[in-house]
Amino acid sequence: MTWLVTGGAGYIGAHVVAALQEAGMGAVVLDDLSSGFANRLPAGVPCVVGSVLDGHLVEAVLRDHRVDGVIHLAAKKQVAESVGDPLFYYRQNVEGLRVLLDAACTADVKRFVFSSSAAVYGSPPTEYITEETRCHPVNPYGETKLAGEWLVRAVAHATGTGYVNLRYFNVAGAGTPELADRQATNLIPMVFQQLALGRRPAVFGADYPTPDGTCVRDFIHVSDLAAAHVAAARRLTAHTTRLTLNVGRGHGVSVREIITQIGEVTGHPVEPTILERRTGDPARVVASVDSILRELDWNAQFGVREMISSAWTGWQLRHRKDPAPAGPAVRASHATR
Ligand SMILES: NC(=O)c1ccc[n+]([C@@H]2O[C@H](COP(=O)([O-])OP(=O)(O)OC[C@H]3O[C@@H](n4cnc5c(N)ncnc54)[C@H](O)[C@@H]3O)[C@@H](O)[C@H]2O)c1
Repeated sequence: MTWLVTGGAGYIGAHVVAALQEAGMGAVVLDDLSSGFANRLPAGVPCVVGSVLDGHLVEAVLRDHRVDGVIHLAAKKQVAESVGDPLFYYRQNVEGLRVLLDAACTADVKRFVFSSSAAVYGSPPTEYITEETRCHPVNPYGETKLAGEWLVRAVAHATGTGYVNLRYFNVAGAGTPELADRQATNLIPMVFQQLALGRRPAVFGADYPTPDGTCVRDFIHVSDLAAAHVAAARRLTAHTTRLTLNVGRGHGVSVREIITQIGEVTGHPVEPTILERRTGDPARVVASVDSILRELDWNAQFGVREMISSAWTGWQLRHRKDPAPAGPAVRASHATR
């Protein structure tokens, strides 16, 4: 079996490629390298440099590499950027997916795993979010992911394609130091960056109705997430299935707890600066993970400590220096991507 992994040179995609290889499944990557790095890929995995928006190229890759299924991660993922440039996000994330699905139909490829997000839920007023919780995205990024799920579902029903839409919660950690996230857009790498700059991370709001007043999120180790893709690929290989599943740990951890644990792991304890709440940040976003356990026999193996320590090892490898002591505050984000 050979899987086309779009966005395979990215942070999560490279972990998915490594996990497929480990599971004895073939992979070919299509990536425009807009935020990815070809040197993340293991030897022997072909990397075609190009965009999913190029339908002829996608079709050629599917045919030339005799692809059996697609794992689609290629997308833009920055919430604030999507608010400023929604047309770009709809083109990259929705039109890119439409072109890819079109090529897959033409090449008769009928297995599809789609990288969705907890951002489809918006600010749900519920303790544990199930897949039946109402989707109400609060930014264009989340909208493109929800529209993507609808598109995948509609095409699947029209063509007999099997699919698994995976709604990732907050992704963190690294399988190996070389594969660590190189962008400082998620909470943990952002805090590392502030430490390195000698600044204190800022927390937006400490008066939420949560145990310590800061927002609570569900953090999932990227290696666990990669294993969920392998489980989805296996399931699609065995049956034509149609599933939409949360991928989280089902445990909430507060932003303050994460910052405290970062201090313990790095040996640089830091007191965050508390700022006003930001509009649109939900108090708590935690997955119910019953469905993915039932459907794919998957559950998370790693905890927050492993996420922080593996991310920290990767950070040190890239920066090769210790962070300076904490100084003035700079903003750190904990948006659900
Ligand atoms: N990181 C998170 O916390 C998180 C959470 C939920 C969902 N997601 C989704 O997971 C996927 C991967 O995210 P990531 O964190 O690895 O980001 P990333 O930016 O590291 O990876 C995205 C990859 O896609 C490539 N790419 C972007 N546009 C492309 C295009 N038009 N054609 C071909 N390649 C293109 C980039 O070069 C990059 O290698 C995205 O779809 C993202 O929306 C990420």
